[in-house]
This record gives sequence, C-alpha cells and structure tokens, in this order.
Amino acid sequence: MQQATVEPIRYDTLVQDERIHASLYTDPRIFAEEMEKIFYRGWVFVGHDSEVPNPGDFVTRPIGTQPVIMVRGKDGTVSVLLNRCAHRGTTVCPAERGTARIFTCPYHGWSYDLSGDLHGVPYPTGYNGVFDKKANGLTRAPRVASYRGFVFASFSASGISLEEHLGPATKLIDRSCDLSPEGEIELSAGWVKHRYPANWKMLPENDTDGYHLGFVHLAMLKTVGSQYQRFVGDEKSIKAVLRDWGNGHTEIDWAPGFQQPFEWFGGVSEGMVARYLTTMEDRYGKETTQQRIFDGPPHALIFPNLFLGEMNIAILQPINVEECVQLHTPMFLKGVPEFNKRLLRQSEAAMGPGSFLLPDDVTIASRNQVGLMTRNSEWLEISRGLNREYADAEGRLVAHVTDETTNRAFWKHYRRVMQEQ
Ligand code: FES
Ligand SMILES: [Fe+2]
Repeated sequence: MQQATVEPIRYDTLVQDERIHASLYTDPRIFAEEMEKIFYRGWVFVGHDSEVPNPGDFVTRPIGTQPVIMVRGKDGTVSVLLNRCAHRGTTVCPAERGTARIFTCPYHGWSYDLSGDLHGVPYPTGYNGVFDKKANGLTRAPRVASYRGFVFASFSASGISLEEHLGPATKLIDRSCDLSPEGEIELSAGWVKHRYPANWKMLPENDTDGYHLGFVHLAMLKTVGSQYQRFVGDEKSIKAVLRDWGNGHTEIDWAPGFQQPFEWFGGVSEGMVARYLTTMEDRYGKETTQQRIFDGPPHALIFPNLFLGEMNIAILQPINVEECVQLHTPMFLKGVPEFNKRLLRQSEAAMGPGSFLLPDDVTIASRNQVGLMTRNSEWLEISRGLNREYADAEGRLVAHVTDETTNRAFWKHYRRVMQEQ
C-alpha cells in the first residue's frame, strides 16, 4: 500500500525578510513542529535559582506543553524532571511550588527521590522479581544549565551549549543582576498568570516592539506623564534604540533616551531610593553605580520564552496554536528588601490583571489572533526601518525605537531553527 506523503512545511517561504505568513500563528502542524524544534531541542528558560533555594525545594511548570518539576537535589544541584509517573503517566507533583523529600504518585503510590530515581513500588512481589527500578525513574531533561541564577533546560542531549545560545545576550542578564548590591536577583513574590487566546509568539514579538507603545498603552502614557514621545524624537536623531543580539534575542534599550538617573523607576525623590543608592555605591563605587542606575534594567527578550521586562520577569508558556499563558513576577534585587516592596507595588500596577501594560498587550494579541483567521489576506508586513537600521561596532543591528528590526531578528532566528532537520 502506498503511504500518503506529507509535504514538509517551507519555512523559507513562510518567513521572508520583509513579510511573514499568517499561518505561522494559526496552523496546528506548525505549532507541533515548534514544540519539537524550539521547545524540546533548544534551550528554554525554566526558572530561577532563588525559587528553589534549599534541597527539596521545587516548582512545577511546563516546558513547551510538557509538565516539569524543577527541583534542588540533596547535593544542591538543580534538576528538571518530567512530571509524569513512569507507571501510568499521572503527574506526580500537583503543587506549583513547595518542598519535598520524595514525590509520591497519587495513583498507585510509586515514589521517586529528588533526583527522579524510583524509590519505592507498593507490593513489589507482583513483578516476579524482574522489575527494573533503574529503568522506571522520572525522565530527566538531559541538559540543565544556568547563568547568574537563570536556569535553562534542553530536552536534547546534544546541540549548542547554553553559553552559545545566549552568546553576547548574557550582558542583558548581567544588566538585571548588576542592579542588586549583591549581584543577584530574587524571584520570591510568586507569579501572576494571564491565560489568553493568542499564539505564543505574539508576546515575545510584542515585548521588544517599540512601535505600538504610543497607541496600545496610550492610557498609561497619559496617566504617568511618560516621556515616550521624547524617546521617539523626530525620527531623525536616535534616542531609545532597538537592538538585535543574535539567536532571536532582542532588546529595546531606553537608556540613550534618558536624561537623568532613575528615569526608568519614575524618579529619585524618596529616601528609600537614596538608601538603595548608598547600598549600591558601598558595593560598586560611585562611578559604576551612577552608570547602572542611569541605564536601568534591560527590556529584552531571551529567545524563546524569557522576557526581562525591566523590573519584572515574565515567562511565556504555549498551550496550543491559539492559546498561551504568560507568567510574571517582580524582579527583586537581593540585598535591598525595602526597595523590593516598592517594586512589588510597581509590578502590580504595570503587569497585574487590573494594571496598564500587560492587559493592553494581551488584548491586542487576542485581537491579532482573531484578525489572522481571515483568509483573503495572508501576509504580515515587517519591513519597517529596513532603510535605516545599521550594525554597531559589535555587529549588532541597531534601529530607531519604532522600527521592526527586533521582529525581523526574531523571525530570522525562528526560520533558521525551524529549517533544521
Ligand atoms: S500511575 Fe503512578 S503509580 Fe500508577
Ligand atoms: Fe506593550
């Protein structure tokens, strides 16, 4: 009998330099391939060291659509285990976070230790003495690596290292951590989840799209008296810029548009901010501190699912081709608890369900998804700024903040990854 052949998806046709095809957001077959090639082969952000500070501490969340447990073992190393009982597939850990000595499956009681090895099986004589305990542990992600506490995993035993995947974009993570007098961030406030009906790629693209701010977030800009228009300038002189860091990592750098320290924070008037400043100066000296607090935190996407959203961290979780979840939490700075209290309030106002920024963005993403179901116009335009982007001394493409250089950077990397066999 002849097998029906399925034509391979032509990503080189669907993703062009100046336009992309709408089916990239709507075709379930493409979604399935993205899970394999981007989320299971590549490096994906899972969580932060500070979420699991002690042996036995764990968090559960998906990588792609697979549930995992990120857990700190007895020896202090962090593992990423599939949350799937080797017996019949039940998730062994239902909690979002906690501390465990052992994970016991609720179905028939098989239990697993912190490294995922099978610990015990009730009524073991039923297996006639030939049961292979070693072969029935929880599946481990073969590669887990971290950079300054940011933990990434890959379900592929081979491939590029995390170091190669991040490349120079480690500097974006440095920019976050270096705002702490202890050089570390801390994710301890818990996560807010927004589930919304849009393809998972909408928000990573939107995260470093500087074009939409004056429209989608107009209400916020008016309320807080934002200087966005100053960042946009007259379009001739460069103020805030977009930057392509390679491998799909992209950034809006607001710093060139700032005129004074702490503009990213909304000013320096309170004593609490002055105390933060003093703690930083004690640790790093005046000059370095001045530079860091002038530049502020990064506004950057680490491909595919981590958003360094200034003083927030966000994770993107795909569910299916037209639905996903975004998690966010304030990025606390280790060593300045008083300052962190204010960061929590800011995070609520910017990102929470009753806030300005994220509800605006997920509403637009959902409306994009509805619009993309039309079939008489199949292409999306991403050419803005091609005429004026340029490479900087380090070879990164830089552009005006309203251009689409970051969108093109995302898709360029996407096309490369999706074309790999
Ligand atoms: S499914 Fe887990 S013990 Fe049976
Ligand atoms: Fe936005």
